[in-house]
Amino acid sequence: MTDHVQPIPILIAPQAILKAKARAVTPADADRIRDLVPRMFAAMYKAPGIGLAAPQVGIGLRLFVMDLMPDDKVVPYVLINPEIVARSPETATREEGCLSIPGLYAEVTRPARVKVRYLDQAGIKQEIEGDGLLAACLQHEIDHLDGILFVDHLSTLKRNMIMRKLVKQQREKRDLRDDD
Ligand code: NI
Repeated sequence: MTDHVQPIPILIAPQAILKAKARAVTPADADRIRDLVPRMFAAMYKAPGIGLAAPQVGIGLRLFVMDLMPDDKVVPYVLINPEIVARSPETATREEGCLSIPGLYAEVTRPARVKVRYLDQAGIKQEIEGDGLLAACLQHEIDHLDGILFVDHLSTLKRNMIMRKLVKQQREKRDLRDDD
């Protein structure tokens, strides 16, 4: 589907845009989004990952792409201006990762079930509701639109540990490249 599309580069934390609140998509953004979405899917599938938000590719717009690949089938979603309209009082804890914090994971506790309203790429109002991986992914990606990373849900100690590891890992990667 996206084989011929150039994946858009994914930003690695820390980056100012990953901490910023993105703005709502308007009809004036239509052309830009038409070009952006396939490149975001290409980057997400290549990584591979199950969700990618526009701020992670340097675009401060409220949209993300998602594919949980149930039964290894491709089921792509584009969620524009998504909004959580209901959350369960019960919580669930799952291990999360992030393409902007590659290779590092931590347990995050969130509402177990959420309902999200959004516009699809055709501009049609849609709703999606679920628990488990879907609920975690929806909340994780909507967080990105508000400048929140999964590590922001952890204790300062754990967050600092992960961010230090990330900086070290990225430095080592850079050093390897410099040696070439
Ligand atoms: Ni993420």
